[in-house]
Amino acid sequence: MRRPVRIAVTGAAGSISHSLLFKIATGEMVGHDQPVILQLVEMPEAMEPLRGIAMELEDCAFPLLHSISLHDNIEEGVVGAHYVMLIGAKPRGPGMERSELLTANAPIFAKQGKAINEHANRDVKVLVVGNPANTNALIASRNAPDLSPAQFTALTRLDHNRTRGILANRTGANPKAIRQVIVWGNHSSTQFPDLRHATIYGEPAFRQIDQKWYREQFIEKIQKRGSAIIDARGHSSAASAAQAIINHMYDWINGTPENDWVSMGIVSDGSYGIEKGIFYSFPVRCDYGRYQIVQGLEISEFAQQKMTETEQELIDEMRTVGDLLPAETEESH
Ligand code: NAD
Ligand code: LMR
Repeated sequence: MRRPVRIAVTGAAGSISHSLLFKIATGEMVGHDQPVILQLVEMPEAMEPLRGIAMELEDCAFPLLHSISLHDNIEEGVVGAHYVMLIGAKPRGPGMERSELLTANAPIFAKQGKAINEHANRDVKVLVVGNPANTNALIASRNAPDLSPAQFTALTRLDHNRTRGILANRTGANPKAIRQVIVWGNHSSTQFPDLRHATIYGEPAFRQIDQKWYREQFIEKIQKRGSAIIDARGHSSAASAAQAIINHMYDWINGTPENDWVSMGIVSDGSYGIEKGIFYSFPVRCDYGRYQIVQGLEISEFAQQKMTETEQELIDEMRTVGDLLPAETEESH
């Protein structure tokens, strides 16, 4: 039997975690032969509901769930963690943009970055989910100078999954037959879901869909899907976000399938001319716990314009939180 790995989750009594924790405990995130220790982190006032969740997890008698610990502070919560899921943050309400959460949520991620830097396993993999996820990932990573920025990622897999799911529904194809979609940029209403390279049952998607529908309806539908869910259910997506977290982490740890890639918010190395240092969603292939940006894709003028627009938004967000971004050191790369 393998040694258990430590998984820290913040916002563990929140809506996303309510779906996520049970999936992790069944082995869906790391692997079906890998025991896990759950280190659950919450605000002091949410410790009582968190205890209830821990009781329910125990009552499922999951064979892979080695143990659970509960923490009302991030410093203890991430000790020795191999994987950290930063979910705890304020969600937006109807009519808000995710960037409006920046001032409320940014300081949380500076503190959490410092705690991860001090206390987590040196090979930790971090996924930032709390919004605005890309810029929060930037803040967390810049506050963890002893770790590589490549150890920090932001969740754009939900947008990637939405792109596949909605395209499948439109074309009648099974989602698994839809490959090589890309979501570029920010997890926000400027993100660019790109179907230029996508295939459906091995044939170019562009030969199977109407360009007018793609440009005038599809792109906006993906960009605004989060708001549509908030308007319909009164709370932001939770179960689909949990599923996307599972997919993101599973692929990062275990690798992406051949002939496909996934979208991940990662630190830009300047690929495709995107500003170095911002956390931007790129198409990546993962293998043995590492990821690499897919290079050499042809970028049309239309795509370039969309990619620049979402890049500019991330540059603006970075400037807004400038005081939470300690200067980069040589060792941090
Ligand atoms: P929620 O309000 O249901 O739960 C959030 C939980 O986090 C609460 O229990 C709260 O007590 C806790 N929390 C707040 N600050 C904390 C801190 N500093 N440390 C530990 N715990 C803390 O919200 P939710 O629906 O679970 O969403 C959480 C976040 O994820 C929101 O910011 C939301 O916008 C974001 N989100 C992102 C994506 C994505 O694709 N990137 C998708 C869905 C939601
Ligand atoms: C989503 O995309 O569903 C989440 O980021 C929640 C939100 O605020 O839209």
